Amino acid sequence: MNIMKSFRETLLNSKHVLILSGSGISAESGIPTFRGAGGFWRKYQVQNLATPEAFAANPSLVWEFYEYRRTVAAQAQPNTAHQAIAEFQKRLRENNRIVSIITQNIDGLHQKAGADNVVELHGSLFKTQCTKCKVIEKNECIPICPALEGKGSPDPNTLSSDVAVKDLPRCNKNNCGGLLRPYIIWFGENLDQQVLSNAHEAVDSCDACLVVGTSSVVYPAAMFAPLVAQRGVSVAEFNIETTPATRDFQYHFDGPCSVTIPEALAP
Ligand SMILES: NC(=O)c1ccc[n+]([C@@H]2O[C@H](COP(=O)([O-])OP(=O)(O)OC[C@H]3O[C@@H](n4cnc5c(N)ncnc54)[C@H](O)[C@@H]3O)[C@@H](O)[C@H]2O)c1
Ligand SMILES: [Zn+2]
Repeated sequence: MNIMKSFRETLLNSKHVLILSGSGISAESGIPTFRGAGGFWRKYQVQNLATPEAFAANPSLVWEFYEYRRTVAAQAQPNTAHQAIAEFQKRLRENNRIVSIITQNIDGLHQKAGADNVVELHGSLFKTQCTKCKVIEKNECIPICPALEGKGSPDPNTLSSDVAVKDLPRCNKNNCGGLLRPYIIWFGENLDQQVLSNAHEAVDSCDACLVVGTSSVVYPAAMFAPLVAQRGVSVAEFNIETTPATRDFQYHFDGPCSVTIPEALAP
């Protein structure tokens, strides 16, 4: 039997579908993945900027990088894969079936497409956390503060980090005044315990799983789908390449997920 047909039959019989997404799902919305050609901002490798050490050493530089990423994400539109997932979630809910979405993405595009209850494993570009009082707040302002206006240029010739720390985003909760940071789980940091336990609940109870546009190398997200497969549940990977986890899964659908996901989730 055609493998797409076979996977669609699995979905028909599922009560709780888990969808795990990574940056590949947003690539066709114009948000570069880290491991592809978009791995650089100015002359920096992006993975070296998304760290607590980089922020401690040069908060202005890191805020300029995030001003850029916030601007790109705010302008981006969900693509057919995000849309198909949101519609699938709504459709199954009408029959008292569940679609859980766990994403490594910080761009908000699942929600923009209309999905809800999205578990954002790595935080959000549109949230901040105060380094002093630790409060987490939603913030969709662009620029995030006057001093960062127009400061996010990715051009390698841009001179970086001339914003004084006092002019970077500041906490206005109860006159706190602490320096804000992006609410992003950076490389080397631990995931929020509550978020992680919400993710595990879905990993432990789903009866079908889709892994969309993730290289399956960033932990702990990378272990979720293999854990599902170990329970004997059907897992389908949607990617333009094979990954270290491909052999653990029952299905692999090759190609851009803007094409394969709408096909898999069509009514
Ligand atoms: N959009 C975002 O929010 C964004 C963007 C870049 C990085 N990140 C962060 O970087 C980390 C990287 O992890 P990751 O595994 O998500 O990304 P990754 O960059 O490691 O891997 C992306 C994967 O997507 C695949 N891919 C690319 N285009 C695709 C397409 N059109 N259709 C299907 N698959 C496609 C690639 O083959 C690759 O396997 C995460 O922690 C994430 O938070 C997020
Ligand atoms: Zn504060």
